[in-house]
Amino acid sequence: MSRERAIAVIDSGVGGLTVAKEVMRQLPEERIIYVGDNARCPYGSKSPEEIREYSFQMIDFVKNTPLKALVIACNTATAVVLEEAKAYLPLPVIGVIEPGARAAVAATRTGHVGVIGTEMTIRTKAYERELLRVQPNLTVSGLACPAFVPLVENHMADSEEARRVVRDTLAPLVSQELDTLILGCTHYPLLAPLIQEVMGEKVTLISSAEETARELAQRIAAGEHAPAAAPFAAPQHLFVTSGDADRFRSIAEEWLNCEVRVQQHTLETS
Ligand code: SIN
Repeated sequence: MSRERAIAVIDSGVGGLTVAKEVMRQLPEERIIYVGDNARCPYGSKSPEEIREYSFQMIDFVKNTPLKALVIACNTATAVVLEEAKAYLPLPVIGVIEPGARAAVAATRTGHVGVIGTEMTIRTKAYERELLRVQPNLTVSGLACPAFVPLVENHMADSEEARRVVRDTLAPLVSQELDTLILGCTHYPLLAPLIQEVMGEKVTLISSAEETARELAQRIAAGEHAPAAAPFAAPQHLFVTSGDADRFRSIAEEWLNCEVRVQQHTLETS
C-alpha cells in the first residue's frame, strides 16, 4: 500500500511543471499528483494571508491522497508557508528556496548573485537570507519581475511581447556585475532562453527545479516516510488545475513532452 504513495507538487499555476519535470526525470518510478491554482495565479502580488489560505487549500486537497512527500514548487508560497506546512504534515515537505540558494552559492565565482522573483518573494528577502546564511560574504541583488508570470500563464513565453518585457524588466540588472542569477519563481525557467539572451552568456542561470528534485530524491531513497517506488513502475501521474483544463493541458504537454491527464477542481475554503 505505502508503495503507492504519491509525491505531491503544488504551485500557483503552471510554473511548478518545471519542478515536476525534474522530479519525473530523477524519480521516474514515482507517481506525482500536481496541483496548480491557475484560477488565482499569480500569488506573487497577493497578501501573505491570501497566499497562506490558498496554499493550505492545495495542501488539504492533496492530503486526501496517500503521500510520501510534498514539494511546494511555488517560490512565493515557499517564502510564506514552508515552515508552517512542515509542522502541519507528518511528511518530508520541501520548498524551492533553500535548494536554489545552495545551487547559486555553488555556481558563483565572483560572489555577486542576482535573484529575480515575484514581488512577495523579493519583499520577504527569503533568498537573500538563505544565500547569506550559506555564504555570508555574498553581494545579493534582488529584482521583482511581476510581468513575467502572466506571460507564461498566457502561453506567450515564445512571443515578441515576452522578449520586449524581459529586456525592459531586466535592464537594471544587466549593468550590474553579477555572474549568477537565480530564477526565483518557478515560472521563469519557461522564459530562460530570453532571460539568458538578455543577461548574456557569462551569467549562469539557476533554476531551483534540479536541486529541489535532488533533495527530494535523497529523502525518498532514504525511505524517510515511505519506501521508494518499485523499480520499473509505470506511474500514472495526475494533474489538477483550478483553472482551465485545456489551457493547462496544452502548456503541460508542451513542457513535459508527453500526454497528461488533467482534472479541473475548484479550490475552496473547507
Ligand atoms: C506566482 O504565483 O506569482 C509565481 C510563482 C512563484 O513565485 O514561484
